[in-house]
Amino acid sequence: MRFQAIQTAAQNVKTDILVLPIFKDEKIKGGIFERLDKAAGGCLTAAISSESFSGKAKESFMIFAPCGVKSARVLLVGLGEEKKFNAEQLRVAASSVGKVAANGNVKEIALAARNFGKVAPEICGKAFVEGLILSAYKFVEHKTADKERKKAEIRTVTFIMSNKAEGAKWTRGAEEGQLFAEAASFARDLVNHPSNVVTPTMLAGTARKIAARYKMKCAVMGEAEMRKLGMGAFLAVAKGSDEPAKFITLEYAPKGAKSTVVLVGKGLTFDSGGISIKSADGMEQMKNDMAGAGAVIGCMKALAEMKMNTRVIGLIGATENMPSGHATKPGDIVRSLGGKTIEIINTDAEGRLVLIDLLKYAERYEPDAVIDFATLTGASLIALGPYFAALMGNNQELIESIKGAAEMAGEKVWQMPLIDEHREMMKSDVADLKNTSGTRFGGVMTAAAFLSEFTEKYAWAHIDIAPTAYTTQPWGYITKGGTGVPVRTVLNFLKYYAPPKRGKERT
Ligand code: BES
Ligand code: MN
Ligand code: ZN
Repeated sequence: MRFQAIQTAAQNVKTDILVLPIFKDEKIKGGIFERLDKAAGGCLTAAISSESFSGKAKESFMIFAPCGVKSARVLLVGLGEEKKFNAEQLRVAASSVGKVAANGNVKEIALAARNFGKVAPEICGKAFVEGLILSAYKFVEHKTADKERKKAEIRTVTFIMSNKAEGAKWTRGAEEGQLFAEAASFARDLVNHPSNVVTPTMLAGTARKIAARYKMKCAVMGEAEMRKLGMGAFLAVAKGSDEPAKFITLEYAPKGAKSTVVLVGKGLTFDSGGISIKSADGMEQMKNDMAGAGAVIGCMKALAEMKMNTRVIGLIGATENMPSGHATKPGDIVRSLGGKTIEIINTDAEGRLVLIDLLKYAERYEPDAVIDFATLTGASLIALGPYFAALMGNNQELIESIKGAAEMAGEKVWQMPLIDEHREMMKSDVADLKNTSGTRFGGVMTAAAFLSEFTEKYAWAHIDIAPTAYTTQPWGYITKGGTGVPVRTVLNFLKYYAPPKRGKERT
């Protein structure tokens, strides 16, 4: 995708779709709109006065072959209320364009870009392109008829802008938006493929390919090596499956890096629940239980393309959780990396078992911050509904940074408490810890409390993305299936928020 900014009159721009963003009840008076309306013989005012379009958020109106205008189509898109305007509104408005583009035959679009005042032009360019790419996303790899049909292929996005310097800023923002959205799309693909395609071995292969392409270090450990390390918790999950588990590390280490961030992803390529098997309803969705791992790989790929001076290490625990004659049984006690013993009450609380070995392993990098993302609990969906991921951690400064980065991305997070009382609930009668509290109440927080027993050496944040990583109901620029959350949050965090100084406060 190529971006350019030009100062041509909108009616003279030859393109497939000319996009006109308009606020709710905005009067077409003066400027680019009035000139375009005049050139087009009043068809914009006609559309608006016919009440077919009023500029509400998510609203759009297509005018085909308007005379006096060189563009093949003019698309009016609603921005919603002007006083509520922010980047997210622009992202959602862009999805009206992306959805048209998803149906093909749109190679070039032009946006009548404008000065949005309180939202900086770079932010606008980035948000527009993120919304555009994410909403045009399609997953047709396994559709025999659609597979041959080209995916949306927008080649050029032109920003029509009266001010040249501002146009350059829109373009710069757009480039970052493309990078971020493509990283998220990459993560979406990995989630959308079924578990017989995305196996732990396939995830390892994907990581290796990315490492080779971007000159990153990549190591893949098999079960024998994990056993040698003492990762008994991770291995207890892998035990029931015939697919070999993989512990994947990816390292981006630019020269002169001053800080180290470790990203940890839950990579359950399928979660059947194991012996504590799940019910059949919706079990097919458990192919999405590797969304955390997909996000880590997506982020690592984008990082290498950005000029980042932070050392970033991605750790992925990839395995299936399956029942079988050699699967872990409820009541079994295992020894996690570092020596703490865990009584496995419920084999379906497997994500935390994989994560604790990785979190312990992360210590060796002496990180300034560790962030894990995991589709960890159904309880987070019950607590927060489908639009918020749950955020917890042991360092408020880190958490505030992630909140800021998430806000920038339009990926909602909500902080939940991490307290000693919840840690107390995870103590076992017969081992050091147990993997479930024995009650469903507070399931998001008790899971995080369990993880926190392994993160004492560094500043840590945990994002339970079970609510937001996957959706059966699309909205705005979020398509059905994998959402790519929280890739853009993490990239914003790494780029715009310096990780906190080493050390932690325990909350
Ligand atoms: N992968 C699931 C959590 C999940 C549920 C993700 C729904 C996405 C959508 C996780 O491994 C799990 O099964 N958690 C259990 C924990 C319980 C046994 C304490 C759950 O949430 O029921
Ligand atoms: Mn589970
Ligand atoms: Zn799971």
